[in-house]
Amino acid sequence: MANNISKRLQIIGDLVLPNSSVYDVGADHGQLEQYIASKVNKVVAVENKKGPFEILQKSTKNILNCETLLCNGLEKLCIDNDVIVVAGMGGSLIVDILSQSKDKLQNIKQIIVDAHRDIPLVRTEVSKLGFYINKEVIVKEKDRYYFVISFLKGHKNYSDVEIEFGLGIINDPLFNEYREYEINRLMGIYSKSKDDDIIHRIERIKSL
Ligand SMILES: C[S@@+](CC[C@H](N)C(=O)[O-])C[C@H]1O[C@@H](n2cnc3c(N)ncnc32)[C@H](O)[C@@H]1O
Repeated sequence: MANNISKRLQIIGDLVLPNSSVYDVGADHGQLEQYIASKVNKVVAVENKKGPFEILQKSTKNILNCETLLCNGLEKLCIDNDVIVVAGMGGSLIVDILSQSKDKLQNIKQIIVDAHRDIPLVRTEVSKLGFYINKEVIVKEKDRYYFVISFLKGHKNYSDVEIEFGLGIINDPLFNEYREYEINRLMGIYSKSKDDDIIHRIERIKSL
């Protein structure tokens, strides 16, 4: 088990379906691999850049059920992989990685994403690929809030507010704190931009 795993990666690891075969895009430091190895059958850790790939190879070399691959996105997704993780990237990159290989998702039971931007886009586009949100968790790390989203195969309709702010997220223990933070952040932006869209977002988040 990784000693220095971040809270964010720990939450992701805890959401991964047990006994699954995981394909982790952008595995980088290999912390997630170390954390989940004992609960999954197999983990394929993927990097598309040589530097991070070499670090990944070193950090996972003692994990017997971990395979490392230097390739792009879902290029080498196998028929036996049933869970995809794409974490620590912008939302539009995550959506591109998943959409480019949408024909390969038939055997996938779960997709876990942690997008650092454009999260509503991720909710919308991953749902279009035939998955629904089964759990969202807010994670606070170093004064930043992250939204970890687990999708399972199937379909659900969402309201605009659920797409914008998340599903069931108001029940998250960190939601009130996040809301205060987000209102203050948006007020700061509004004071400079005077953009009405910002005020509307503030009103929507206040109403939750
Ligand atoms: C910021 S790191 C995130 C690492 C880890 N997943 C996390 O959440 O802490 C993003 C990694 O994704 C890799 N990456 C970006 N696009 C990729 C792609 N299309 N295929 C494979 N890896 C990719 C980058 O090289 C980088 O190492």
